Amino acid sequence: MSESELYDDFGAIYAAAFDWSMADQVEPICGLSGIEHGRVVEPMCGSARLLGAFAAAGFETLGIDRSATMLALAQAYYDQQGLTGQWLQSDITSFNLDEGCHLAVCPSNSLAHLSSEALMIKHLNSLSRNLLSGASYWVQLDLKQPSSTGQLEDWQFEYLGETVTCEWASSGTHNSFETHVTRFLFPDGRLIEATYDMKVWSFADWQRVLKQTPFSLSAAYRTDTFAPVAAAQSLDNEPLLWQQLTKLH
Ligand SMILES: C[S@@+](CC[C@H](N)C(=O)[O-])C[C@H]1O[C@@H](n2cnc3c(N)ncnc32)[C@H](O)[C@@H]1O
Repeated sequence: MSESELYDDFGAIYAAAFDWSMADQVEPICGLSGIEHGRVVEPMCGSARLLGAFAAAGFETLGIDRSATMLALAQAYYDQQGLTGQWLQSDITSFNLDEGCHLAVCPSNSLAHLSSEALMIKHLNSLSRNLLSGASYWVQLDLKQPSSTGQLEDWQFEYLGETVTCEWASSGTHNSFETHVTRFLFPDGRLIEATYDMKVWSFADWQRVLKQTPFSLSAAYRTDTFAPVAAAQSLDNEPLLWQQLTKLH
């Protein structure tokens, strides 16, 4: 199964497996961006677990995702929490919003789904057209040198009354892509498995791309503590960080 089938056909299981709260990220992100209210956009919002926390904190929110399934899950989550928000079903490399936004966020290495530098530049230019000048774009993008070292994580979660195991593995790199395998194992032995490629970004590649866009990397922070990390030197092989990009013009 491909990545888009995973989100389109098994979005509810995916959302249940990755359902931990990101609400504690809202206050530091807003404080460091210097905003207390306004409009927040999340490209690749999925089930909106981060965007929903901005909505709960009183922000207007707009989630963009190309999967109708993921947007329906996001709306259902908002309904359950008594929140309101707007959604746009679109590819994040080309979209237009009616109003400019004060802040953008994209967590969880989601941007590595974009398969080329050209698509990343298209995305950043598209987003920039819809962000106010000086606004921040907070991204979690894994920066590293391609390596053949694989990774494996597994955990359990509840889905429709069953305890399901999620296994997430990256099985090494080929060219500048990493093959990811996500598996859901049910107690009766049923298995759902998706295999897809994520682009591997080095700090040097990322800097070269940013130079071709209106964004600059202004700061980087540890994801759990928001302790600053020097962004002028290579961020390769750090654990997943928050990067604060600023729209310069
Ligand atoms: C890993 S999920 C992350 C969701 C969310 N950011 C989170 O942290 O929970 C990635 C999402 O990106 C969406 N997606 C992937 N490529 C996309 C694209 N080019 N344009 C819009 N959405 C995309 C998928 O449909 C999926 O919902």
